[in-house]
Amino acid sequence: MSRARVHNFSISLDGFGTGDGLSLEAPFGHAAHRLHTWMTATRFWADMTGGDGGTTGVDGSFAEQHGPGIGAEVMGAGKFGPPGWQDDPEWRGWWGDDPPFHTPTYVLTHRPRPSLEMAGGTTFHFLDAPPAEALAVAQEAAGGQDVRIGGGPTMVRDFLAAGLVDHLHLVQVPILLGRGVRLWDGLEGLEAQYDVEVVASPSGVTHLTFTR
Ligand SMILES: NC(=O)c1ccc[n+]([C@@H]2O[C@H](COP(=O)([O-])OP(=O)(O)OC[C@H]3O[C@@H](n4cnc5c(N)ncnc54)[C@H](OP(=O)(O)O)[C@@H]3O)[C@@H](O)[C@H]2O)c1
Repeated sequence: MSRARVHNFSISLDGFGTGDGLSLEAPFGHAAHRLHTWMTATRFWADMTGGDGGTTGVDGSFAEQHGPGIGAEVMGAGKFGPPGWQDDPEWRGWWGDDPPFHTPTYVLTHRPRPSLEMAGGTTFHFLDAPPAEALAVAQEAAGGQDVRIGGGPTMVRDFLAAGLVDHLHLVQVPILLGRGVRLWDGLEGLEAQYDVEVVASPSGVTHLTFTR
C-alpha cells in the first residue's frame, strides 16, 4: 500500500510551521532559519546540498528518512514560492535547476500552469484539486511507493483534517514564534487516530512521530 508521509516538518512550541511576512527575501518570514537549524546541522543536509560534514545523531537519523521509499511529493503553493509567484511566468521554485525531490512533485495551486521538467528527476506538476484527489494522482505517479506530503502548514493541516496522512514526523523546536501559520488549528483530538512516539534530541528539538 502506498502511504502518505510527512517528514522533517518543523514547528515552534506554539505550533507555527512558518512565520509571518513571507517574501522572496524571507521564505520563512520572521521565523527566518530558526525552525530548521536542527536539520541544516546534519550530514543529511550536507549530502543534499553538496556540503561536508554534518551530524549523524538523533536528528540525522530522523532527517534521512525523508527520501527512502518516496515516489512522489505533493506540496502547497506557499512552499513552491513566495506570495505572488503565480504572477511570474519564469518562477521555477526555490531550489535551482536540480531540486532535492528527484520524483514527480505536485504543486497544489488555484492557478495551475504547464509542468516543469527539472534536472535530477524532479518534474513539477501544478494541480488544482481537493486533497484526496491530489493524493490519488501522486500515488499513481509514485508507482507503488509512498507519497511525501511536503508542506507548508496549510496543506499539511488540510491533509490531516481529511484523514489522509499515514505517518507524520514533526520536529518541535524550542522557540516561540507568536505569529505565522499554525499547524494544529481545527485538528482537536487528532492524536486518537495515531500511535504517538516522542524522542528528545540533545540538540534541543523533540521528534514526534504520529503513525497510523
Ligand atoms: N515547517 C516546515 O518544516 C515547512 C515545510 C515546508 C514549507 N514550510 C514553509 O511554509 C510556508 C508555506 O506554507 P503555507 O501554509 O503558507 O502554504 P502551503 O501550505 O505551502 O500552501 C497553501 C496554498 O496552496 C494552495 N492550495 C492548497 N491546497 C490546495 C488545493 N487543494 N487546491 C488548489 N490549491 C491549493 C493555495 O494557494 P493558491 O490559492 O495561491 O493557489 C493555498 O493558499 C513557507 O514559508 C514555507 O517555507 C515550512
